[in-house]
Amino acid sequence: MAGQIPQRFIDDLLGRVDVVEVVGERVQLKKAGRNYAGLCPFHQEKTPSFTVSADKQFYHCFGCGAHGNALRFLMEYEKLPFPEAVEQLAGRLGLDVPREGADDPHARERDKKRKEGVNLLELAASFYRERLKMGEGQSAKRYLEGRGLSSEVIQTYGIGYAPGGWEALKQHLSERGIPESVQVEYGLLIHREDTGRTYDRFRDRVMFPIRDLRGRTIAFGGRVMGDEQPKYLNSPETPVFHKGRELYGLYEARQVSSKLEQLVMVEGYMDVVALAQYGIHNAVATLGTATTEDHLSRLFRLVSRVVFCFDGDRAGRQAASRALETVLPLMIDGREARFLFLPEGDDPDTLVRREGAEAFRDRVTCAMPLSEFLFEQAAQGRDLNTVEGRERFASQVLEALNKVPEGMLKSLLLEALAKRSGLAQQQLQALLEKRAAPSKEPAYWEPVAEPEAKESREPENVRRSKPKTRSQVLSPVGRIVQLLLHEPGIVSTLPDTLEWLPEDEHTPLCRDLVALLQAGRYRSPQVVLAHFQGSPQGQVLAELAKRELLLPKDTREAELLSLVEYLKSKQQQLSPQKEVETLVEQFAALVKKQESGEKLSADERQKFMKLLAMTKY
Ligand code: UTP
Ligand code: MN
Repeated sequence: MAGQIPQRFIDDLLGRVDVVEVVGERVQLKKAGRNYAGLCPFHQEKTPSFTVSADKQFYHCFGCGAHGNALRFLMEYEKLPFPEAVEQLAGRLGLDVPREGADDPHARERDKKRKEGVNLLELAASFYRERLKMGEGQSAKRYLEGRGLSSEVIQTYGIGYAPGGWEALKQHLSERGIPESVQVEYGLLIHREDTGRTYDRFRDRVMFPIRDLRGRTIAFGGRVMGDEQPKYLNSPETPVFHKGRELYGLYEARQVSSKLEQLVMVEGYMDVVALAQYGIHNAVATLGTATTEDHLSRLFRLVSRVVFCFDGDRAGRQAASRALETVLPLMIDGREARFLFLPEGDDPDTLVRREGAEAFRDRVTCAMPLSEFLFEQAAQGRDLNTVEGRERFASQVLEALNKVPEGMLKSLLLEALAKRSGLAQQQLQALLEKRAAPSKEPAYWEPVAEPEAKESREPENVRRSKPKTRSQVLSPVGRIVQLLLHEPGIVSTLPDTLEWLPEDEHTPLCRDLVALLQAGRYRSPQVVLAHFQGSPQGQVLAELAKRELLLPKDTREAELLSLVEYLKSKQQQLSPQKEVETLVEQFAALVKKQESGEKLSADERQKFMKLLAMTKY
């Protein structure tokens, strides 16, 4: 049995772990003044009453009273018993959990190994640093100087040199009693299965130590000084190193300023280091992998703005669109992502040397906002002068929007999309909702959620007619007209009679259009428009023609049918005359109450909205 965990260790652990990080990995938090806020994971809520304080290192929910430190959070959230929660917290710091009077040989063995791992990487890092200073490191030193690095920056980043030969590090570590198996496990030695031999992974390379947030070396990247391949060699995944999570330069950036505002994501080790040399200390790099959600949520816990930096070439654009996909789900309010494209042939390293820090800073400041990049992507290769092109464009943007959490950014993007595609915003919103949760009811004409009538003091007749002009939401009948106009052929799928057609502003037009099309003489939108041209109906049709359909051609017939089904069912529901009368009465009463200036209760408001929506049919 494992013994007790000493209190001293727990105190120490809590002193070193960041509750914001622990919670933030599991709950979406956004900065709110000095604290962070989010939706409480311990009770159901729609508005955030859960706060996490970085200063006090605890969380508190004003809704349900949940309260505690990082350890308590892990226990409650992950439903872990105390010792396991301690293990987990300690694990992220690479610490072993000591036990008073521990006598479990397995646990002891494991602990010992872990400690050896961490120590061993530190040992290796200082070995490489030392070698850089010695005679055998002179070529590496010249190489680094040749690349314009000062000794100060070399020191800050702990850059070193791995000697040539096969066993320099292995010997150094083995002399210090570190078993080869451990050196292999932590990626420093390579073990060849066929010969059973072991040798140094990094040979004759410039070595960049990769550090965790607390500055401990957890892996290495090594660069050749000539043209050999691979140019960079990285540590493999080990018990302490996970590529998809770690970022090169993050520790160093945090050392310079504890109050970072933004971080710049670049591609390479040398980019981070060169920028630092020029006084730009907030660059970080992934380690030869694409940006992961893990990377980004780490960054967003530290700063509210991330600027992605990419090469201007095709590969750079591709990497940028992958980054865009990854960042979309993380874009809660208060966060910002931008995209910086460098001139072709440059990377931040070459650019900052050529143009200087000020110019590079300016580029960062002017980086493309996420929205712009998103629209640019969606517009690419499409002719936005055509209806089809705009439909595809809108549909791609909507797909992306689907991934964005509810909030300001989403509404702004929707608004911008409406402007650019010429589609009504409500229509887009409805489509978005439909994509998110496919419902049985077609959703284009759903009423606008915000009752404007609340503030209205206008005479009833004005207000009554308002919804039509105010909302660009199409009634189902309007939508049917629109579908038929764009795709006259689908008229054949309609039932023989039109009993299901409710009365609405578009009904007369709909009847005429159906009769015309059923007569079989009009097969294209242009001819239909020509037929009605000059009449008020022609004007309405022209308006409808301008508004696009958004859905692909092959779903139009199905949509028409579902609209008819929907209207039929609606008619059945409302048919008992009495029911209609009571609804009308209720509506009138609510209108009256509203006009008298009395406030409606939440229930009443909801009912009012429902009734208002119904009056459209
Ligand atoms: P680059 O090839 O763009 O190199 O790789 P760089 O960063 O500009 O390096 P210098 O300026 O030639 O020294 C970008 C990043 O991709 C990873 C490394 O993390 C590198 O920093 N990479 C590249 C590898 O992991 N292996 C490689 O062989 C090459
Ligand atoms: Mn480079």
